[in-house]
Amino acid sequence: MHLFLTDPDTATFLTDELRRATPHSSVREIEGLDIASDVKLDGLLLAFARQTLPDAVEIQAASINAWADRIIDAVVGVFPDDQPWRLHLWPQYGEGKAGRHRCELILTSLMERLKKRRRHLLRSLIDSDAVFDVQTSLAQGVLTSPETGWLSATPAPRAHALRSLISSFPRGEVPLADDKSAPSRAFTKLVEAEQRLGRRIERGETCVDLGASPGSWSYVALNRGAHVTAVDRSELREDLMRNPRLRFESADAFKYQPPQTVDWLVCDVIAAPQRSIDLLLEWLREKRMRNFIVTIKFKGHDEYALLDMLKCDAPPLCAEFHLTRLCANKNEVCAFGVVK
Ligand SMILES: C[S@@+](CC[C@H](N)C(=O)[O-])C[C@H]1O[C@@H](n2cnc3c(N)ncnc32)[C@H](O)[C@@H]1O
Repeated sequence: MHLFLTDPDTATFLTDELRRATPHSSVREIEGLDIASDVKLDGLLLAFARQTLPDAVEIQAASINAWADRIIDAVVGVFPDDQPWRLHLWPQYGEGKAGRHRCELILTSLMERLKKRRRHLLRSLIDSDAVFDVQTSLAQGVLTSPETGWLSATPAPRAHALRSLISSFPRGEVPLADDKSAPSRAFTKLVEAEQRLGRRIERGETCVDLGASPGSWSYVALNRGAHVTAVDRSELREDLMRNPRLRFESADAFKYQPPQTVDWLVCDVIAAPQRSIDLLLEWLREKRMRNFIVTIKFKGHDEYALLDMLKCDAPPLCAEFHLTRLCANKNEVCAFGVVK
């Protein structure tokens, strides 16, 4: 069984997406989780899954200590010896503190047990949300009640291989960035996509920002020291327009072509989803950029199946391709990745 975690608001979209991607699988929803069998994870992309728990096993554990023992049983002999591993444990029942408190007690019991009996496992347990490298394993536990839940143990290098499905952030939730000086809150989308990708716009890099006004994505790139070509019909905030590393082009984002390959295409243009998908595929085919972060916006809920074409056509053109509804997204998803 594989478990897929979604935002409660998008649970039905995830179930539809799973059924479209894997018509022969059986999918059931419980407590904000989609549980699916007969699903092949390799190559699967699910925009509405925040987190995936591969090969999850259903657990009954009558006490805190029993939970700790089950976690140890799940990882011993499964994770490579003396390589780093991470643990994400969270409650998926009720509201409020009780579930979180139970998880804290389980973690305390686990640490005590590891200290006594499995010191090498304790030494290699790390707390990090950096994108998975090929050496890092991931254990995930979700409590669906105090005494029941699921455990998933994904050894290295599989966690890395499945990084388009498995987030390095617990539950796939990335805390939203904060910056009161940005022209709008939209910058949180760009920063979240960078964090999920494990790459960010750096000093000296070149960046094309399509649909750039009022300028919060350009603002992030400029603050990092990048050179930005901002394309929009409306100008950006005045201070950004004066920045010597910003070149503003009053043009149609769908017609703009850079004179040479740029380090980053970032695009948050308001357009019908098919237009944004076509734009991204054209840029990928023409190898106009090395990295990309592109928002695909929807009106209503009837057009998510348009993403299936992108899932099919983009990955062969990319060294890395992700398609995710970010925590900072509203009725949008974000395609981001690295070009081949
Ligand atoms: C959501 S806003 C972008 C916000 C921006 N990322 C930021 O953080 O400030 C979308 C922008 O797309 C621009 N836009 C829409 N259609 C466009 C087109 N065909 N060509 C250029 N810009 C376009 C709009 O003028 C608008 O400024």
